[in-house]
Amino acid sequence: MNEVPTLIQLCAAAIRDELLHGDSHDDILPGVYELPPELFDVLLPQLPPLALQKLHENLPFEFRDDYELANGYCEHYRKRGRCGIVDSAWRALYKSRWPGLGQKSGVMVWLDKHEEEKYSSVVDWQQIYWETHLQNCVDAITETALLPSYGGCIGEIQIPDSILQYIGCKGHPSVSTSDYLKFSYHCQQFGIYVRCLRLPNVLCVMETCHLLQISKLESLNLQWIKSIEHVEGLCKLVNQNSETLKSVEFTHCKFYPTFMDAICDSLHVKGHKTHGIEHFSIKRSSFLQTDTSTSLPVGLTSILKSGRSLRSLSLCDNQLQTFFAKNVFNTLLDTSASISNLDLSENNISGWLSHFKWGSGNQRVSFGIGKSLQSLHLLNLRNNNLQKDDADCLKHALVHMPNLQNLDISDNPIEDDGIKSLFPYFIEMSGRPLPFSDLKLENCELTCDGVSQLLEVLSTMKTPLKMLSVGDNDLGSKMGRPLGKFMCTGIRALNIEDIGLRSSGFLEVLQEIKKEMKLVYINISKNRGGIGSAKFLSKLIFEAKELVAVDAQINFMPMESLSVIASSLKVTKGKLELLDLTGNSFGEQLADESVLAEFRVNGKLILKMSSSVAPNTPYDDDP
Ligand SMILES: *[C@@H]1O[C@H](CO)[C@@H](O)[C@H](O)[C@H]1NC(C)=O
Ligand SMILES: *[C@@H]1O[C@H](CO)[C@@H](O)[C@H](O)[C@H]1NC(C)=O
Repeated sequence: MNEVPTLIQLCAAAIRDELLHGDSHDDILPGVYELPPELFDVLLPQLPPLALQKLHENLPFEFRDDYELANGYCEHYRKRGRCGIVDSAWRALYKSRWPGLGQKSGVMVWLDKHEEEKYSSVVDWQQIYWETHLQNCVDAITETALLPSYGGCIGEIQIPDSILQYIGCKGHPSVSTSDYLKFSYHCQQFGIYVRCLRLPNVLCVMETCHLLQISKLESLNLQWIKSIEHVEGLCKLVNQNSETLKSVEFTHCKFYPTFMDAICDSLHVKGHKTHGIEHFSIKRSSFLQTDTSTSLPVGLTSILKSGRSLRSLSLCDNQLQTFFAKNVFNTLLDTSASISNLDLSENNISGWLSHFKWGSGNQRVSFGIGKSLQSLHLLNLRNNNLQKDDADCLKHALVHMPNLQNLDISDNPIEDDGIKSLFPYFIEMSGRPLPFSDLKLENCELTCDGVSQLLEVLSTMKTPLKMLSVGDNDLGSKMGRPLGKFMCTGIRALNIEDIGLRSSGFLEVLQEIKKEMKLVYINISKNRGGIGSAKFLSKLIFEAKELVAVDAQINFMPMESLSVIASSLKVTKGKLELLDLTGNSFGEQLADESVLAEFRVNGKLILKMSSSVAPNTPYDDDP
């Protein structure tokens, strides 16, 4: 039996219907804005996006002032001005339509938790609601536009019911409903909210430029660009937005040399020789060149050279060869670019820095003297088939990156010799004002000997490293003691997944933990850690007061591990928010409530074990 609606609910429903289907809102809206806060609060959650939009669009100015304040300062936001409430309604609509979307993942979430909270309070939920909605529309009509038989206008393509019902224009037939069905309606109504957009090749056409005339795009992600027609279309779109565009990404594209020239031309703001792009990225794509060519496409060179604002360049997974990466780097260095992130991962570029060690051509002088990339903070060279010699050459090149903080050379077979050749670099870096902070060396064919020496070198740095990852190297139980010592040096995030530590290794780590640790995050997954890993965790929880997240999956921990870990949780009441114990040998006994109850002492803790019986306590991220 249905519950009987209250009078207030009936009134709210009537207002909703009037906003959705009424001809003029002038009669009803002023009254709605005068509603006392208690009733306004009841009304808002009842409104579907289209109705909320009408209410929001006509919001009187006195409320808007509140809103500006609300967006600038968190304190004012807390006061929940009327517009703050409207923003919360958008947020609720967004979260219910796209749960999980926009959440960051990975280690940095735990390290920068505080930063992220600050950021999320200045999001404009109305804007990202319609932006995401329009992206859904684009994705939905792409299927139709891709059909070879489709020859009509893009704007005429119908938006599926499944999308329309989310915004509240289904099931209430009215005169204007037919407008809602077309893609063009959504572009005209909501295009103004779109800043970031992902477009497939078939939508890179002149018509899209017309449809998105009111958009001020800041970020464009273009996919499957393979022909000159696509390039012409996208260039018009880029040109139309050249005043606002900050980020351009290409995925799954094929570039003929002339494509880059056209793209470069379109990026230039009218009358200027430079462009305003801050982030330029090409991923999972290929550059088609004549077999003998060993220079960069001219257009790409000019994008790199004319980009005063360029902060981030990513050329990931493009089957780049050595000469290509070498030329990119030389071009950046030559122009002393102010780039801060450089990502060349997932290519095949062994030898790309050899000229730094050997000089170029016949001159045996070292390359790049007096030039440097002062702003470069992050260099990602993951999975590039780099060998030990490459590490040695990297040492010479790193001199030209005096402010590097974050280096990823994972998935390269550099071996112990490779990492050892970088030791002088780490020692030299330790005295700098901006300290080196993140080092990733996963799966580099390192051994216990190489990593032990590395840890000793890193321990001498004046400012301790923030993050180290040496996972996926076969280091063995002997690694225990050096690791234990290192954990007490102030490291904040440590990844030692799958290094073959075993129970005995964890017990050795324990022996070395003699003082409080600064660890915030640790990953000890896949180490066959057994009871040793449980004892280690118990001590860790006790000694690392800042600890927020622990990943300890697949460690063959026996049943008694649970009480070992729980015992220190009980006494510490720390900050721990995530403890992942999935894939251990707890068996059926997990159903024993008394064991699990011990883990509930910390209200924030999310415990992951096996999917069926984990006592998940999802934390509440509402302000
Ligand atoms: C990587 O490049 C080398 C030559 O530099 C080549 O011999 C090798 O086959 C390439 N590997 C892959 C996976 O493409
Ligand atoms: C920890 O390591 C495991 C095993 O390799 C991996 O699957 C997991 O994603 C890592 N955890 C995090 C949070 O990165």
